[in-house]
Amino acid sequence: MGMEFVDLFNQWASSYDDTVAGKDPEYREVFEGYDEMLGRLAKLSVSPVMEFGVGTANLTRKVIDQNKVVLGIEPSSEMRRIAKVKCPEAAIYDGNFLEYPKLLTPIRSIISSFAFHHLTSNEKVEAIQSFRDRLEDDGKVVFIDTIFKDKEHKQQLIKSAERQGFLNLAQDLQEEYYPFLEELREMFVLNGFEVTFEQLNKYAWLIQAKKGE
Ligand SMILES: C[S@@+](CC[C@H](N)C(=O)[O-])C[C@H]1O[C@@H](n2cnc3c(N)ncnc32)[C@H](O)[C@@H]1O
Repeated sequence: MGMEFVDLFNQWASSYDDTVAGKDPEYREVFEGYDEMLGRLAKLSVSPVMEFGVGTANLTRKVIDQNKVVLGIEPSSEMRRIAKVKCPEAAIYDGNFLEYPKLLTPIRSIISSFAFHHLTSNEKVEAIQSFRDRLEDDGKVVFIDTIFKDKEHKQQLIKSAERQGFLNLAQDLQEEYYPFLEELREMFVLNGFEVTFEQLNKYAWLIQAKKGE
């Protein structure tokens, strides 16, 4: 469940850091400002932190450098192998948004960058319900991910990718589970979160959801 992209990430792991650094023109705009975006997310996190979809630990590294405790969850063994080399201080476990080891540490923030879109709509709802249960009363979720403002925006981004000859990107935009903003807002609100959205680049948004009373 929610694991259909793991083979892709095992293959991508060794070149992933080149992609986020902008070396692949096709994904340059998706990750534009990557380092600054992750820096901002790290600052917003409150320890103890649970991070999903750690990847090569670029966000994890920034959070650890702020002396915060991070429990990382990552389903790809290749990503975990690189993450443990780059961030040996972090505890990184095999798991995904919906299934992960039972860890007893109280969690005050749940963070993730560029990973939540791997869940279908139903899986996102299930994950958000579980965030509410997992977080302390003053807890929050802070994510960065691609979101479509609405259907027209989705079509604009797909056409723009096609015009530039970025056919893999165009296919991702159609086939992965990037949510519409209002759909994601409703998922958080119905589960008792107060949520805000801020656009960070052409694709990526900062999503902050505070657990309500
Ligand atoms: C685009 S990478 C982002 C990595 C890192 N967070 C970053 O910002 O560079 C997406 C990551 O999410 C992981 N992933 C895929 N499906 C997942 C799931 N269902 N639950 C948690 N993580 C998942 C992938 O293995 C991959 O490491």
